[in-house]
Amino acid sequence: MQPSAFVLFGGTGDLAKRKIFPALYNLFLDGKLPERFAIVALGRKPFNDELFRQHVKESLGRFSRREGANAAAMAEFAACIQYHAMDAGDPQGYERLRSLLEQREEELGLTGNRLFYLSVAPEHFGPIAARIRQSGLADGGGWTRLVIEKPFGHDLASARALSAALHVSFPPEDVYYIDHYLGKPMVQNLQSLIASNPVLKAVLNNRYVANVQITASETVGVEERAGYYDRAGALRDMFQNHMLQLLMMIARRAEGYDKRQVMESVYPVNRDEAANHVVRAQYTAGSVAGRTVPGYLQEPGVDPGSATDTYFAARLMLDDPIWRGVPFYIRTGKRMKEKATKIVVVFKNPLESRLPEAPARNYLIVNIQPNPSLDFRLNLSGLDGELQPLSLQPANRGEEEPEAYELLLRDALLGDPTFFAKWEEIELSWKWVQPILDAFANRLAPLHTYPAGSNGPAAADHLLAEDGHVWFETA
Ligand code: BG6
Repeated sequence: MQPSAFVLFGGTGDLAKRKIFPALYNLFLDGKLPERFAIVALGRKPFNDELFRQHVKESLGRFSRREGANAAAMAEFAACIQYHAMDAGDPQGYERLRSLLEQREEELGLTGNRLFYLSVAPEHFGPIAARIRQSGLADGGGWTRLVIEKPFGHDLASARALSAALHVSFPPEDVYYIDHYLGKPMVQNLQSLIASNPVLKAVLNNRYVANVQITASETVGVEERAGYYDRAGALRDMFQNHMLQLLMMIARRAEGYDKRQVMESVYPVNRDEAANHVVRAQYTAGSVAGRTVPGYLQEPGVDPGSATDTYFAARLMLDDPIWRGVPFYIRTGKRMKEKATKIVVVFKNPLESRLPEAPARNYLIVNIQPNPSLDFRLNLSGLDGELQPLSLQPANRGEEEPEAYELLLRDALLGDPTFFAKWEEIELSWKWVQPILDAFANRLAPLHTYPAGSNGPAAADHLLAEDGHVWFETA
């Protein structure tokens, strides 16, 4: 791997602590960082290098997937990190950062390859990118890449404004838009799963598939993020990005067919029809894993009159020869019964209508989390003659399973954009979502409720029942 410097804006933030440093540390332990490598963390707090390294080591102890602290390895890793206190709004700070970086590069024999990771509030993306460019920080003599995290805009117009602001300073191919769902190993597996298994490839089409269900349910509520979440809701927070990326990944089964083409083929839903194709809902008080929890409107920091969706479900249809006529049902919600992300392909059962005793349907269940695995339900009769599901499960890799951020950070350092969201996909996703946001803003779609700890509102069951389908539930 090429020698490089990793410059982290937002170095004292929550994401850095929980995800970015632990991911870099795990890469370090696995020998997957460049041999010559520097980390420069930026933040406003007045740490010195020693104090900051101490703070990082504490985060590693708490958040690294590896159990048992390895003090020597942590100390060796922390020694790569320098901390630089800087206000990202102050142009002079960038001059000082440039000298610091040049000095560090010289000490370590780096060649000017620089990755800037902006783990900051989205309103700072454009201004920081511009200052990196103006200060000459992007001209280190090697490659320069910019990595950013969602939210990529609040709606279609603001997303376009964001990309325009970024692309003034950085060519689109140097901007890496992280969607951490694309870093989940089972999501990354989807393509090879289909491409390398003719038995699956042959049946994933409208001749054999009745419908496809994509679910990401969470048991957590709004946590300490009410300020952000109450303005976002499930549609913006999960659906526009993660869920539509999962749709693009599973539906692009034909060779030479890319994710952008999948998104382009989704039939648009206009504002006035939105209520026929989507369901939005909010959780009320209930019980999750035996614990009584308050409703969304009672959560600290939430506006008691809020109409924000904590659950969103939709039916999407694709204008595509392979998938025409197959509904893709997508749902995501907070405070549901289980924490699980999965894609369920429900196969048609041609015998069902003619034969009451027909065998159970076949399902292909891709469990993305927890416990990434594949469950292919075929019918096999056991000794008692009862049909039993056959399940295929890869060995559990436990703490050896890399985390999304590890795979993504390594790809960004290698310059491999495969598992990053492309700007065109992001824009197309917002285009699909925008009329629905408009419908919500104009109260053209009812806001349903569901008790915390349930599988969501009854209205979402009706959405499938209209087509003669039901949600596949495992919990
Ligand atoms: C984030 C959302 O993008 O994804 C959170 O902002 C959500 O609200 C999280 O909890 C879920 O991620 P994961 O990896 O735990 O499924």
